[in-house]
Amino acid sequence: MAAGKRVALVTGGTRGIGAAIVRGLASEGFAVAISGRTESSVREAVGRFRKEGIPAAGRAADARREEEQKALIAWVASDFSRLDVLVNNAGIGEFDSVEKLSPEIGSATWSRPTSAAPTTRSTTPRP
Ligand SMILES: NC(=O)c1ccc[n+]([C@@H]2O[C@H](COP(=O)([O-])OP(=O)(O)OC[C@H]3O[C@@H](n4cnc5c(N)ncnc54)[C@H](OP(=O)(O)O)[C@@H]3O)[C@@H](O)[C@H]2O)c1
Repeated sequence: MAAGKRVALVTGGTRGIGAAIVRGLASEGFAVAISGRTESSVREAVGRFRKEGIPAAGRAADARREEEQKALIAWVASDFSRLDVLVNNAGIGEFDSVEKLSPEIGSATWSRPTSAAPTTRSTTPRP
């Protein structure tokens, strides 16, 4: 797909900030691979992007699951033959006033960046 273009992978690229990043990268000339949690959300998003003329493709892959991230990166390598940019966007957040956010929610939010680890690890060749 999109031979010769640089390739970006945006985890959680189906909507929200991830979808905006997909559009920004496409406007810079990237072909874009996306992931989300379900085949249906990914299929719908890819359909929307293609209608906008964006060369996108996607796979369902839960960012918390190492095996799914390995399969995602293997698919990108096979279908796009390269990966230039990884955007670890997938995630969720609780947004409320400071008074209403419990310490438990705060601590869960701080630990969330670790959810990017399986994807990042899967892009790195290991001996
Ligand atoms: N919005 C804000 O104000 C704000 C502020 C600071 C940080 N952030 C962070 O920025 C990121 C995006 O936020 P957003 O507001 O755009 O979120 P969003 O609209 O809820 O979209 C979340 C995206 O991540 C995907 N996703 C969620 N959990 C996933 C998982 N386990 N594996 C793979 N994909 C997953 C969703 O895919 P599905 O389509 O499958 O659901 C969706 O594409 C999040 O990490 C959020 O914590 C957001």
